[in-house]
Amino acid sequence: MYEDRIRCAALRGKVTSAADAALLIHDGMRVGASGFTRAGDAKAVPVALAERARQEGKPLRITLMTGASLGHDVDRTLTEAGVLARRLPFQVDRTLREAINRGEVMFVDQHLSETVEMLRANQLGKLDVAIIEAVAITETGGIVPTTSVGNSASFAILADKVIVEINLAQPLALEGLHDIWIPGHRPHREPLPIVSPRDRVGVPVIPIAPEKIAAIVITDKPDSASTVLPADVETAQIAGHLIEFLQHEVSRGRMPARLPPLQAGIGTIANAVLAGFVESPFEPFQIYSEVLQDSTFDLLDAGKVTFASGASITLSAARHAQVFAELERYRDRLVLRPQEVSNHPEVIRRLGLIALNTALELDIYGNVNSTHVGGTHMMNGIGGSGDFARNASCAIFATKSVAKGGRISSIVPMVPHCDHNEHDVDVVVTEQGLADLRGLAPRERASLIIEKCVHPLYRDMLRDYYRDALRRGGHTPHCLERAFAWHSRLDATGSMLEQVSQPAECLT
Ligand code: COA
Repeated sequence: MYEDRIRCAALRGKVTSAADAALLIHDGMRVGASGFTRAGDAKAVPVALAERARQEGKPLRITLMTGASLGHDVDRTLTEAGVLARRLPFQVDRTLREAINRGEVMFVDQHLSETVEMLRANQLGKLDVAIIEAVAITETGGIVPTTSVGNSASFAILADKVIVEINLAQPLALEGLHDIWIPGHRPHREPLPIVSPRDRVGVPVIPIAPEKIAAIVITDKPDSASTVLPADVETAQIAGHLIEFLQHEVSRGRMPARLPPLQAGIGTIANAVLAGFVESPFEPFQIYSEVLQDSTFDLLDAGKVTFASGASITLSAARHAQVFAELERYRDRLVLRPQEVSNHPEVIRRLGLIALNTALELDIYGNVNSTHVGGTHMMNGIGGSGDFARNASCAIFATKSVAKGGRISSIVPMVPHCDHNEHDVDVVVTEQGLADLRGLAPRERASLIIEKCVHPLYRDMLRDYYRDALRRGGHTPHCLERAFAWHSRLDATGSMLEQVSQPAECLT
């Protein structure tokens, strides 16, 4: 049975049910599971663990680490069963988010390149069990990952025991797409030898001793489809401003005609903006990113992108069906890497990446909040945006200028939580326009952002705030007693607008 999937004959006796495999996990353990942005996630054992917790009715609480977010409502199921004591480094689940914001789950929001770096340095404690989704196990026990690599390789290497979920719904054609490179210990680590997105520097499987594989579970569920929405008028306008800016950079000789490799963050806005590049005038370029979304394949199909490197492939249902039916057509233009490699500061700096990520809100000086609604409530997490923004040659943050039908301005006097500070933010762009902040002092940045990026509903309010701030003086002028008044007003009245009679609803 499963000879083509479990090629190491000695391991075939390890096949068991998800419920039995879950018995390897005990209260208080640290568990590392595969999964990155709904791709390649362990789909059966975590659910069986939740079921056991419900049935046993005694404490079964674990620390769960993944690559990034999971599909199939696994985070919701684990949260509802009370299994999650601690969760890192990223999530996007509404139920888990609410539990985090009630203080019931301790969420550690990390730069995605750092989790396994910290594990390796024993800063997060010992990993007890890894649960890794695989296409196959090779003759020598090597694990072939599926649609994501994420943190899977280091989890499998560092854990005491490994449970493998062989997913029959994931095609064997995925084999060979992965490039697993594991850094050595510091301080004597060798350089990471990637000098082009298409470089392969590691091995195609996760190399572990077969004896570490404690159980194998057979599954057959496809990945959950991505939830991003299609492009709309505003995202098309954002793409237009960006393309114009990049053309200007090329014409001034600040960027080559063949653009430097591009990174684009998760979510509707980044995906839609990247898709807008299909119509762009640039010579074909490369992608060195984290999640390869639908837009990556639009660009590959249009011949605008010649190669894409990522840590996972997360697609809509329709794109998934098409891409996986024709994987051979894309095979030599794709590579999937561990997230500590896809997001590695050394490579991002060396390649001179253009990094495009999304802000929830930003302030007049260009400080960006990507994670905390109202400054207090976790949305998803910083993800890889910080890995890229700090090290890119050009760090761009995009957002629509207003949210919730105009009741929220995405540009505020001062962000109540800061993920990316002004030193890491080069360009901000909304559907209103683009502000190039490079080389500007705070006072110059403020004027530019207000005039170029703010929605007309809020522009006078911000001009007024900034005028008042200037009277107080300073390198970065503020009226501290008014700095969060917009957020307080939103809390109290449901709108950041000063007079509720201002017709925000006309935007919806
Ligand atoms: N205050 C409150 N809510 C806001 C808001 C604000 N200032 N700005 C946006 N929102 C809400 C939207 O209304 C929307 O709500 P809904 O889900 O109820 O409709 C939600 O946030 C998502 O916003 P949207 O405009 O659709 O953008 P998105 O899907 O592109 O997501 C982020 C934007 C910031 C949430 C998302 O990109 C993210 O989590 N980023 C951080 C991680 C990251 O950048 N990773 C990439 C690294 S490679």
